[in-house]
Amino acid sequence: MILYLNGQYVPREQALIPVEDRGFIFGDGIYEGVRSVGGKMFEWAAHAARMDNGLKGLRINFNRAQIDALEAVCERVVKENELVDGEAFLYLEVSRGAAPRAHNFPPASVQPTVFVSASKLVVPRKMRDEGCSAVTFPDMRWKRRDWKTVNLLGNVLARQAAYEAGAYEAILHEDGIVTEGAATNCFAVFDGVLRTHPLTQRILPGITRIVVMELIAEFKMPLLEEPIPFAQLAQADEIFVCGSTTDITPVVTLDGTKIGSGKPGPMTVKLRDAFEARLYQAAGAGR
Ligand SMILES: Cc1ncc(COP(=O)(O)O)c(C=O)c1O
Repeated sequence: MILYLNGQYVPREQALIPVEDRGFIFGDGIYEGVRSVGGKMFEWAAHAARMDNGLKGLRINFNRAQIDALEAVCERVVKENELVDGEAFLYLEVSRGAAPRAHNFPPASVQPTVFVSASKLVVPRKMRDEGCSAVTFPDMRWKRRDWKTVNLLGNVLARQAAYEAGAYEAILHEDGIVTEGAATNCFAVFDGVLRTHPLTQRILPGITRIVVMELIAEFKMPLLEEPIPFAQLAQADEIFVCGSTTDITPVVTLDGTKIGSGKPGPMTVKLRDAFEARLYQAAGAGR
């Protein structure tokens, strides 16, 4: 496996970072997860914009031009690993760099650590088609979830709870409302109306969510961009989660209880199919 680290393409075994890297010590960094289809990054510009916003938020010295240059890096990492034919998941991280441990920022001369890897993505077709199970879990994350920081403890504990329950995703809730999934955004349908948490600091502005919103508008589906009351979630007619490796995945069981008919609902299926058409057509069109 070939990785990109700080300007070089190196075998995985040689990709080493100092123990004092602030990504390791403080979780002081921003990451991205990007889908590649046929060697092209899906919705790259949106990922770059979100990364820029997070890096500015953390005041890490890595500008938009440097972020933009990572698209070619991603493409090269995909090529080096012979992942052009098919699909891959790109992981990008920019940490504040390595310096003796101190909470305050290191001197400006300390360079950020920049890392990109690619791994083969095998789409779990059956789960997309038939749906997944989810559990609910308290949202215990910090208050700037709109920045995609590498500090993922709340998400890690939630995903582990899902895993231990034999489920795919954990749907998070706090103060009586549903925020999002541990690594996905969450939508539900009540009486023919879609509902999802609005874009605030409480959720990650998902790139898949942007595309889903465009499809909802195209189909003129009724949508309320308002939090889903947690107490009502299990009574939804349909639930789905979405993300860069999840696409649109129907949730057919929540905490062991059937959602709706226990099968993917009609609005979810229509959006899922349209999303997939767009994902694969975008790759063909070289978007
Ligand atoms: C907490 C959280 N919400 C939502 C998402 C979905 O975002 P995207 O569609 O950009 O992958 C992710 C993706 O990793 C996530 O970690």
